[in-house]
Amino acid sequence: MKKTVLVLGSGGREHALAWKLARSPQVGRLMVAPGNDAWGPDYERWPEINLSERESYARLAERARQARVDLAVIGPDNPLADGLADVLISHGVPTFGPSAAAARIEASKAFAKEVMQAAGVPTARFFRADSVSEALSILDRLSKDWGPGWVVKCDGLALGKGVRVCAFPHEARDAVTDLAKNAGASTFVIEERLFGEELSWMALCDGKRAVLLDPARDHKRLGDADTGPNTGGMGAFSPVPGVPAEFAERMKNEVFLPVLRELERRGAEFKGVLYAGLMWNPRSGKFWVLEFNARFGDPEAQVLLTRMEDDLFPWCEAAARCELDTMPEKMRFSRESALIVVGAAAGYPDSPERDQVIACEKMIDPPSLFWGGVRKKSDRYVTAGGRVFGAVGTGASLAEARTRAYARLSTVQFSGMQFRSDIGASSDQPVPIAVLASGRGSNFEAIQTAIEAGALSARIVAVLSDKADAPVLAKARAIGLPALSVVPRKGDRAAHEEAVLAALRPYAPHFLVLAGYMRILSPKLLQAFRSDRGYSRVVNIHPSLLPSFSGAGGYRQAFEHGAQLAGASVHLVDESLDGGPICAQEAFSIADCRTVEEVERRGLVVEHRLYPEALRWILSERFVMDKMDKSSENRRARVRQN
Ligand code: AMP
Ligand code: GLY
Repeated sequence: MKKTVLVLGSGGREHALAWKLARSPQVGRLMVAPGNDAWGPDYERWPEINLSERESYARLAERARQARVDLAVIGPDNPLADGLADVLISHGVPTFGPSAAAARIEASKAFAKEVMQAAGVPTARFFRADSVSEALSILDRLSKDWGPGWVVKCDGLALGKGVRVCAFPHEARDAVTDLAKNAGASTFVIEERLFGEELSWMALCDGKRAVLLDPARDHKRLGDADTGPNTGGMGAFSPVPGVPAEFAERMKNEVFLPVLRELERRGAEFKGVLYAGLMWNPRSGKFWVLEFNARFGDPEAQVLLTRMEDDLFPWCEAAARCELDTMPEKMRFSRESALIVVGAAAGYPDSPERDQVIACEKMIDPPSLFWGGVRKKSDRYVTAGGRVFGAVGTGASLAEARTRAYARLSTVQFSGMQFRSDIGASSDQPVPIAVLASGRGSNFEAIQTAIEAGALSARIVAVLSDKADAPVLAKARAIGLPALSVVPRKGDRAAHEEAVLAALRPYAPHFLVLAGYMRILSPKLLQAFRSDRGYSRVVNIHPSLLPSFSGAGGYRQAFEHGAQLAGASVHLVDESLDGGPICAQEAFSIADCRTVEEVERRGLVVEHRLYPEALRWILSERFVMDKMDKSSENRRARVRQN
């Protein structure tokens, strides 16, 4: 007897689910509710179903029962949180998708954090706040000892828009008030910002057991180079190069199984797809769970189901019946790469423009195109949602899949279409730099933050200090960077610098970036970082408007002299004391400062902005050196125009 399957939803992910399930030799009839006008004639549709109407669930379930649905498969998150699976099951319709109680792991960030803590799953440190004022006072407290960066999340479902990743305390405070105003948030999770590579890892679960899919990578930000607001996902690919095979076993034992046990203990058995959004540091092998979703990712599902060689139907059925133990231990995926690029409507994610006519040679079907925010309006297809379609390419390599996906994307057009041009592309090769610091290394943090935010194309390959207990080393270690200490012996500068060079050599830095490194560098070390064009590849930030107040305590000197202006200067380092060519400067008024500490506080804010900004063009080496005049050794660095 062939089976009858009902897929619930209307987006690109549900298109992929319906397409994959319809190909199952076990499935005789495939229905979609409400489905999508653009999905072609292969599916029987229940177009009048509106999944956002909770009060209609009982009617829907009754209709499914009468249609003798053998398995309902729920795609989107909201109906799960609203208890659609519970209603279907209570009407005797076997369902793949978690109960509302289990789906809380996605619907409430605070609940997810509680579960992770109880299950011992690695996750970012966090605080829960139940009001705006509580959130603000937590942030005030935290800004002193956390960082670099804070993440503010509102508790409920927000279509990927309830999370703000902030580099500075004032941004985090603004995020709280903004989420309260625009997303109606009143409960917040405030967490430490983590750095690394993101992975989307999903598993089919039957309440007790988990079978992992291959990992995928999603691109959540709207704009190229990870800029702009968070979205539901603008593109994805799978497999993810560099993820070691044995990592899957760790994920299963350290994340999925403990969470399933904890949910079961709370009476919320999870049956369906559990999705862990991870931050992973490939160098240290550490990982943290950023979030859980209670369903397939969109657009990750489109690439994963394209690569899946197994029949999806028996897997979903076994999970729904709590019988995953009757299935093979692993799911089979093709070795090919698959990559999807999403075409989104103008105005997405805030207010997607509707009713734009879609020009497409032919409404090509999966696995090339998956249709989401589309409807038919008097014989034409028009935009009807944020993410309108996804174009998929497959190939022996990621690059090949990428080329094909973009070729397919170009066959579809509509006014104002937004898409990212860098899905799966390795961005500009970042410049390898080593940071040298003697103290707390707040400029190191500012640089790292800029790198992670995509504002600076560099890679810190090592952090080195002349003090074994410098806090900067602990901070570097905490994010998995090599932290080296080379402590000088009294009076032996040459030997010390030899040792510094030897320690750095394996990491092959192209530039040395000094961030409060309290030692004067000798010609020998500088020579090792001199470019072919003769300038120094050692950069420093000095707390004064050079050439005033060189030497130690720039801010103090300015304050004690009664200067009205203080400032910070970024310069290339030569043999003189703070005398190399100046690349960037910023002044600030200190006329109203009553203590040195006040000047220093203001100065740090300026430095943290100025240094990454200046490094952006210094590292690009798109500058020239002017000789001021023949007699002078003074040189000026200028940005080259082209
Ligand atoms: P979430 O909905 O919790 O996954 O957050 C959406 C996105 O925000 C994630 O995919 C990350 O890009 C980012 N994000 C969330 N939490 C953190 C964190 N603790 N550190 C850094 N980025 C984060
Ligand atoms: N693409 C991320 C998600 O589905 O939540």
